[in-house]
Amino acid sequence: MRALIPFVTFALAALPAAAQDAEAGGQLYIDFCAVCHGETARGDGVMAEVLRIAPTDLTALSSAGDFPTLRVAEQIDGRRPMLAHGGDMPIFGQWFQGDGADVALPGPGGQPILMSRPIADLVTYLQEIQP
Ligand code: HEC
Repeated sequence: MRALIPFVTFALAALPAAAQDAEAGGQLYIDFCAVCHGETARGDGVMAEVLRIAPTDLTALSSAGDFPTLRVAEQIDGRRPMLAHGGDMPIFGQWFQGDGADVALPGPGGQPILMSRPIADLVTYLQEIQP
């Protein structure tokens, strides 16, 4: 049995990285979102006070129940029009197209929701910071 442990460890380390990467999402978050939503995502970024609408506290996305995967993904990619995020012309669209190959995240009830990899990384990061 003991001889198996290094093998198992090696096998796990050799697995391909998960399709979505919360660490990469966290980096995107700092680069593109923290200026408004704040470094700790509580809605207190340096730009918050000059905005007419307060940026959402992104650590409270699950406060009403399940994490709203679809709503969040659409918010980021601009499918849900919002002035602060660019309305009909999403600020982030061109940055978050990724390599063109969409990945699927499970939505409510487990049905897959397709989105670009950078957005999936961001959504995964936001999921991880829910209390
Ligand atoms: C220019 C400032 C600004 C930037 C940059 C910004 N946001 Fe926002 N965001 C806002 C504001 C303001 C709201 C609230 C708008 C409203 O309620 O209509 C908001 C709302 C949201 C919501 C909606 C939450 C909900 O309850 O539906 C999500 C999710 C979100 N932002 C994610 C992000 C992510 C992820 C990024 C980075 C890719 C980002 N935002 C960058 C200003 C910004």
